[in-house]
Amino acid sequence: MNPQARDGRNGQTPRSEQENQRVKNMGRKWHAGVLGATGIVGQRLVKLLAEHPWFELTEVAASERSSGRTYSEAVRWHLETPIPEAARHLVVKGVAPTLDCDFVFSALDSSVAGPVEEDFARAGYPVVSNSRNHRMDVDVPLLIPEVNAAHLAAIPVQQKSRGYDTGFIVTNPNCSTAGLVLVLKPLADAFGLERIFVVTLQAISGAGYPGVASMDIQGNVVPFISGEEEKMESEPQKLLGKWDGTRFVEAGLGISAHCNRVPVLDGHLECVSLGLKKIASLAEVREALRTFEVDHELAALPTALRHPVIVMDEENRPQPRRDVEAGEGMAAVVGRIRECPLHDVKLTLLSHNLLRGAAGAALLNAELLAARGFIKDRSPRRAVKLAEPAAR
Ligand SMILES: NC(=O)c1ccc[n+]([C@@H]2O[C@H](COP(=O)([O-])OP(=O)(O)OC[C@H]3O[C@@H](n4cnc5c(N)ncnc54)[C@H](OP(=O)(O)O)[C@@H]3O)[C@@H](O)[C@H]2O)c1
Repeated sequence: MNPQARDGRNGQTPRSEQENQRVKNMGRKWHAGVLGATGIVGQRLVKLLAEHPWFELTEVAASERSSGRTYSEAVRWHLETPIPEAARHLVVKGVAPTLDCDFVFSALDSSVAGPVEEDFARAGYPVVSNSRNHRMDVDVPLLIPEVNAAHLAAIPVQQKSRGYDTGFIVTNPNCSTAGLVLVLKPLADAFGLERIFVVTLQAISGAGYPGVASMDIQGNVVPFISGEEEKMESEPQKLLGKWDGTRFVEAGLGISAHCNRVPVLDGHLECVSLGLKKIASLAEVREALRTFEVDHELAALPTALRHPVIVMDEENRPQPRRDVEAGEGMAAVVGRIRECPLHDVKLTLLSHNLLRGAAGAALLNAELLAARGFIKDRSPRRAVKLAEPAAR
């Protein structure tokens, strides 16, 4: 195994003592609700929250099909491990903004996520969303903490312009964009980027449940995923761009994406060719990826990896079945770094669409928001004052 693969949060990444202290000061963990808790992404969130040191799952919400039933009755559970005890007996609520929690994750179908997320933000809830609806809004951070944590400065502007008080919306990118941009970031910093040509081979779990019909995907490849190429060509521009104090300035990259659905359960593989601004050797590219390291603040978040990009040297890796769980599903795994006859460099990358590309990404975003003091105790019953956020 590549030594970086061991560099997970159970190894070298310390948990933030300051934040653990803050949880103790509150007398409890932050209370989290999950909108869309019965879906593929929502189930991952429910599982991750059951084991989380800072957050406690107190509310689950979904459609009218599910509301009023207990979570275990309503959910069609897809994970190998059992439904967490903490969630099993929660009664599924509807998506009205009256939940007993400090903030919500949204894993709602995009047909409903837009207005529901706005209703929650207007009612005072921080909304940490997986859905596409608000990703490209002019005042909503599209966040990968390792890439553009500075974009959180847009939150007060969003609150002011929309008349929100303590509420706001922060989103994570599309599942195939998440892995791609994590790999582009160290290369953009070291050499600058000009052109990106990417072909994806995307897992079926990326389409939710029941997703693509088995008769369409078994022994087949579907060379079309509605809206996906547009997202992959636009979201990296915002992620790798800048917040200038009043607006997001796009990175101005040339990006062309081809997206394909393949009969793989979890894990999106991407074949990428890159044009760099500065000439770099393959060894320098490999080194920039291998040494990409997050700062102390991020390393202290429970879901963060100190080295979120893992480089493999084997000529036939990464592979979804073998490598999708690297870094507990939060790493982007890169291999096959070689010269490109058309651009400068080509490589293959893999990331877990449901963890790095969805539930894990949202959890990491929420941890950064909590660490920076954006998530408050909303409970009317509690008089305990929160400790001040960490000095920035
Ligand atoms: N799958 C991925 O890899 C991935 C990655 C990144 C982002 N996303 C995004 O994350 C969101 C969830 O994706 P998913 O794959 O988990 O989808 P999914 O399995 O289809 O789950 C959708 C969830 O939305 C709820 N819902 C549907 N219609 C509703 C309504 N009218 N009112 C309230 N709740 C409603 C469903 O509740 P019921 O069970 O009650 O119907 C379910 O909990 C989507 O916006 C998707 O684009 C997915």
